[in-house]
Amino acid sequence: MKIALGSDHGGFDLKNLVRQHLEERGFTCVDYGSYDSARAEYPVYGEKAARAVAAGECDLGLLFCGTGCGISLSANRVKGIRCCNCSEPVTARLCREHNNCNMLAMGGRIVGAELAFAIADSFLDARFITGGRHEQRVNMIEAIDRN
Ligand code: RB5
Repeated sequence: MKIALGSDHGGFDLKNLVRQHLEERGFTCVDYGSYDSARAEYPVYGEKAARAVAAGECDLGLLFCGTGCGISLSANRVKGIRCCNCSEPVTARLCREHNNCNMLAMGGRIVGAELAFAIADSFLDARFITGGRHEQRVNMIEAIDRN
């Protein structure tokens, strides 16, 4: 499975720690930047990683900024992206099982490395529950007119 990664400076260190963890688990990671800890604008990297997931170049994506808020908001602007900002593993699992999230964001200034690994694992190991009320609701989300 190929995982898109993106961050600003606030999420840069956590992104690299999570990347190492995922690669040890056998995932392929593609990093869409930023590539150092210098100040970076989260909408740029949230969008880049989100476009890769929306285009099918990556299966799922993980995003990191200081809080997870700005970069998740940016990714959610891309059609077909459902990105949830998570700081614990239960929501990370349920946002895939119930909401079919294809991206997840975390705050590098909010969660520590071990918790981030557990959040990433819960998200990546879960599967969307198809064919029922959850799928119906996700279809309703997709049908909301952005205007
Ligand atoms: C950058 O200082 C910070 O605002 C950003 O990483 C993020 O937390 C925004 O949502």
